[in-house]
Amino acid sequence: MCGIIGYVGPRQSQGILLTGLKRLEYRGYDSSGMAVINPAKNRISTRKSPGKIRVLETLLNKKPLQGSTGIAHTRWATHGAPNQINAHPHSDCKDEISLVHNGIIENYAQLKKELIKEGHKFSSQTDTEVIVHLIEKYLKNRSLEEAVRKAILKIEGSFAIGVISSLEPDKLIGARSGSPLIVGLGREENFLASDATAILDATKDIIFLGEKEMVVLTGDSCKVTDFGGREVKKVPVKIKWDIAQAQKQGYRHFMLKEINEQPGIIRAFLNSRIQKGSGRINFEELAICEDALKSIRNIMIVACGTAYHAGMVGKYILESACSIPTQVDVSSEFRYRDMLIDKETLVIAISQSGETADTLAGIRQAKQIGAKVLSICNVVGSTLVRESDGIIHTHAGPEIGVASTKAYTAQVTALYLFAFYLARIKNILSQAQVNKYLEELQKIPRQQEEILKFQGSIGKLAQRHSHLGSFLYLGRNINFPSALEGALKLKEISYIPAEGYAAGEMKHGPIALIDEYRAVVCIACESHVYEKMISNLQEIRARKGKIIAIATKADDKIRDQAREIIYVPRCSELFSPLLVALPLQLIAYHIAAKRGCDVDQPRNLAKSVTVE
Ligand code: AGP
Repeated sequence: MCGIIGYVGPRQSQGILLTGLKRLEYRGYDSSGMAVINPAKNRISTRKSPGKIRVLETLLNKKPLQGSTGIAHTRWATHGAPNQINAHPHSDCKDEISLVHNGIIENYAQLKKELIKEGHKFSSQTDTEVIVHLIEKYLKNRSLEEAVRKAILKIEGSFAIGVISSLEPDKLIGARSGSPLIVGLGREENFLASDATAILDATKDIIFLGEKEMVVLTGDSCKVTDFGGREVKKVPVKIKWDIAQAQKQGYRHFMLKEINEQPGIIRAFLNSRIQKGSGRINFEELAICEDALKSIRNIMIVACGTAYHAGMVGKYILESACSIPTQVDVSSEFRYRDMLIDKETLVIAISQSGETADTLAGIRQAKQIGAKVLSICNVVGSTLVRESDGIIHTHAGPEIGVASTKAYTAQVTALYLFAFYLARIKNILSQAQVNKYLEELQKIPRQQEEILKFQGSIGKLAQRHSHLGSFLYLGRNINFPSALEGALKLKEISYIPAEGYAAGEMKHGPIALIDEYRAVVCIACESHVYEKMISNLQEIRARKGKIIAIATKADDKIRDQAREIIYVPRCSELFSPLLVALPLQLIAYHIAAKRGCDVDQPRNLAKSVTVE
């Protein structure tokens, strides 16, 4: 996600802001920029560039920015490709205001339309730019603080912003709703940042802005108010983290941080796509018209690794909600197969990075045959995004850990929404039926938070099994892919041989593996195949297999079959993969961490497999 840093005080700020941006690189980004108020000319000068911060640094070396009050930003593109125009900071029509933003403005299209009608000129494709024009609109006979306050009350969605203006050059204003923002308190100087990492070099005295709070900073003052303008007393805290820890926001590994980010990401995704009240689902960048979707007779999902497992869950979802025959294939097989696809086939490519060579090769061939390609992808502007007919961005933010966690559940969530969207278009589900599904789906983030409350005990349970030499993961129906994903998570970060299997296949071979030296993770949540899973558990117990069961809370039968049980809240079977994923991720994480493995950068693996 994007990174913000701001400075106000007596020092020249270019070097301070650049150091801060470098500290924020870990957050992942695809462009960066800086704006500083030049006191001599009393105007704002800006430098922006796509790519790495060193490109911006070269620009600054050629044309340095003089001045003190300044803001800077690393952008992770969500709306608009990663280029110079879309990079932050963004300015108003008269270049008197400059703003940086982290988050997603859900009502930006409507606001942009109104502002253009009022004569505002936009230069970028970003959602962010509407904020600075709103401030410009309200700045007429108002202070900067009042104009910012009025503007943010118009915004729906998540934001953390930093704002400066040549009209009030001694002020730096910040505000947050849904995205983190902190204040750094220095000696006769103050800072704004997305997280402490950016300013730990300058100060460890921090104020964490609360939800819907705003701050007005000068070199020697700090005033925090709520969005209604009422002053809020804040107690500064002293950060004890070092830089490395701060980048993981106190988590030991990025993977653990990303596991814990999942509820918030899914909540934001659903809020930005489901219209309140009507339940209508909107995919602004889908770009495949409804008639083309209506003509779809079959679906082919292609992906690799974890994304492939998301696609397998997608098969169950699409066939259940849309009654459309859906196949799933690993991209490396799909690309060499005689593709039985045609104009009535929708190819769905799933990829976190959007750069996976096999998946790209597969969709290129599919497009040559005339199939429509829809991609579910986490990186705006990636090759896959640019080459697809339609896109659903997962907005999971940069996934730093090589083992995919938050991207996986974001992909599965996108598949649920797309399935309901398609079912509406093809009139297979009524709006009432879709709304009932959506009501269930919108409970998932809170239920995931319930599970995460017990991550300590889940970790202990996992560690009790970290000595075992191999693992078998069993699941049925929509949680068969969950079993495959759980096994992949474990093997790729702990290097323990782990195999996922359809539980119904046990008698056809895998049962020969069962003995007291092997752990068997059984996904036995409430479902129409629950009794079948109980039979599997009995078979495993009879052969002294070490069972770890994942079950539905208040299931009292499971205790007859297993002692090591991880409970998840009760939810519709259709949505259970979004809950089951968390214990599976935590089991893998804690075993790998206990074994001293390099959890975030496992041996032999890359985050994106850009070669065959
Ligand atoms: C998952 O934990 C792995 N890192 C890997 O299997 C990954 O899912 C696969 O390489 C696909 O990557 P993509 O989603 O970027 O296409």
